[in-house]
Amino acid sequence: MAIQKVGVVGCGLMGSGIAQVSAAAGSQVVVCELATEVLEKGFARIEGSLRKLVSKEKLTATQCEETLARFSKTQKLEDLADCDLVIEAITENLEAKKSLFASLGGICKPEAIFASNTSSFPIEEMATASGRPERFVGLHFFNPVPLMKLVEVIRHEGVSSEVIEEARAFGKAVGKVAILAPDTPGFVVNRLLVPLLLEAVRMVERGDATVEDVDTGMTLGCGHPMGPITLLDYVGLDTTLFIVEGWHARYPDNPLFEPPAVLRSMVKDGKLGRKSGQGFYRWDGDKRA
Ligand SMILES: NC(=O)c1ccc[n+]([C@@H]2O[C@H](COP(=O)([O-])OP(=O)(O)OC[C@H]3O[C@@H](n4cnc5c(N)ncnc54)[C@H](O)[C@@H]3O)[C@@H](O)[C@H]2O)c1
Repeated sequence: MAIQKVGVVGCGLMGSGIAQVSAAAGSQVVVCELATEVLEKGFARIEGSLRKLVSKEKLTATQCEETLARFSKTQKLEDLADCDLVIEAITENLEAKKSLFASLGGICKPEAIFASNTSSFPIEEMATASGRPERFVGLHFFNPVPLMKLVEVIRHEGVSSEVIEEARAFGKAVGKVAILAPDTPGFVVNRLLVPLLLEAVRMVERGDATVEDVDTGMTLGCGHPMGPITLLDYVGLDTTLFIVEGWHARYPDNPLFEPPAVLRSMVKDGKLGRKSGQGFYRWDGDKRA
């Protein structure tokens, strides 16, 4: 089945990026959001991003207009009924995601593929809730979606190999390199990245090294574009804590998933990183103060 019409549920940071790359690749895209103002803000982000590509001569003005013309907006899930692929990018809440997929299962055509962009929940639980586990896959994009080249295609036990292949082909069509990942905490990338971030925090917590030396060590010693503590501030201490607390609850015996005490107390004190202006570093907007 060729994927010609894509539904994207949630038009926040990730949903707007996924909608943008899908439309840029030639698909008709229906974007479904809860609130009109969020939908308009998401669209402003898409339009701004496309116009920036025109100013950088990476897209022609005609291509930009053609891409914008492929979008439609809605607040009703029923408008996704004839989509070939529906990608969920709503807030990270497992019950909300399961309930969404249960509704979509009753609305969308039987051959439609469902995908979740979750960062931390088991794909299989949502696949079961959708009533069509064989046509359900994880499609984990990275932020910012238009720039980041990777997508993880997450295979859970019940999915058909045909759907995995279609998901990989879709990833390639939207300009990404698709890797196959297991339905285990963090898939491939976050499974390696999150324990690294936590260990960096533990080093600082134990007084083994300063925040600055940990970051300098990993940028100059390993060629990472950003040190782990800066990255943690960038991602959000609350977001990372939320992810590891979920993993820790499911796998309490895995020491890699143990949330460091300092992370908990910083989140409790509202030190969330870049977004709150204070994390391990002080922030002035997008820049370290
Ligand atoms: N932010 C990242 O770096 C990142 C990276 C990879 C994956 N993810 C995952 O992508 C998903 C979305 O993250 P985000 O950062 O874009 O969040 P976000 O808060 O920016 O956007 C989520 C949007 O979903 C909307 N929404 C919530 N419930 C809805 C519903 N039932 N129907 C329609 N819209 C609904 C909200 O109004 C909001 O605009 C999460 O599962 C997250 O874990 C995030």
